[in-house]
Amino acid sequence: MRTVTRVIHDCDPGHDDAIALLLGLASPELDLLGASTVAGNQSLELTTSNAIRVLDHVGRADLPVCAGAARPLVREPVTNVSGHGESGLDGPDLPPPSRSPEPVHAVDWLGRAISDGVGPVTLVATGPLTNVALLLARYPEVERQLERVVVMGGAIGEGNVTPAAEFNIWADPEAAARVFESGLDITMVGLDVTYRALMTPAHADELRGDGRAGRLVADLYEFYSRVHRRRFGRNGAPVHDAVAMAHVIDPTLLDTQLCGVKIDTGPELSRGRTNVDRWGRLDWRPNCHVAVEIDAARFLDLLVRRIARL
Ligand code: BDR
Ligand code: CA
Repeated sequence: MRTVTRVIHDCDPGHDDAIALLLGLASPELDLLGASTVAGNQSLELTTSNAIRVLDHVGRADLPVCAGAARPLVREPVTNVSGHGESGLDGPDLPPPSRSPEPVHAVDWLGRAISDGVGPVTLVATGPLTNVALLLARYPEVERQLERVVVMGGAIGEGNVTPAAEFNIWADPEAAARVFESGLDITMVGLDVTYRALMTPAHADELRGDGRAGRLVADLYEFYSRVHRRRFGRNGAPVHDAVAMAHVIDPTLLDTQLCGVKIDTGPELSRGRTNVDRWGRLDWRPNCHVAVEIDAARFLDLLVRRIARL
């Protein structure tokens, strides 16, 4: 009998968050319980309405969306307008959201959903880790109850906001430090693997002819790939957050290595760096399964096939 994984998507849509959400919806291996939103790529108001707009587009107004933290734990709020535009989801022409988020703070909703006794929950976190850190403070029992947290964030190597840091960790390093220091089962899906699986114009063309979800992803890709071409000179765009979702659908897409990881919360130069003791040179507790390899062709094939049939 196939087992279905109960998943909550904590996100800040964001183009790749939106694609990850659609991939989760399209996958029978997952029972997607809902989405919690966090400020990151844009303000909380915008990331929340973007999550709802994406769900509206594919007729899933039934899926709960709960708004969480409007700012990082300690730092001043940042956004990623250059990466995702003024709306946080520039490109496609989506109407305003059909509804408001649920009348409950995301952290309380997460606490209840994780401990509802129905079964274990996997959290796929694809924005800054503020909601997850707050969840641990308000509902410490979830450390025992959560099955695992799959984080899109960090890098063994180079960052994308600074040479040292990736956006999600850099935006709220204190929250990331709290989460990585907890006893949770954490998987880090970082830039080392996401940049090795670029979506190309050919993938987008294929999706454009494939119904509502396919057209939306093609439009999202068009904007996102322009940004990546300008910024990094690449002919293709990573779909970072979708890699984290895909790993839950099919764990064999990534190779991971259990390592000690510490987050740099220092003031500037290396703020937000995920220091990964890959070769065990230091006496750090192994606290994280770090993605080290990706089967890019299989990931992209899964993404395109699943979105096409949504
Ligand atoms: C991460 O930052 C955001 O811009 C993306 O949505 C992704 O979660 C990549 O660094
Ligand atoms: Ca994101």
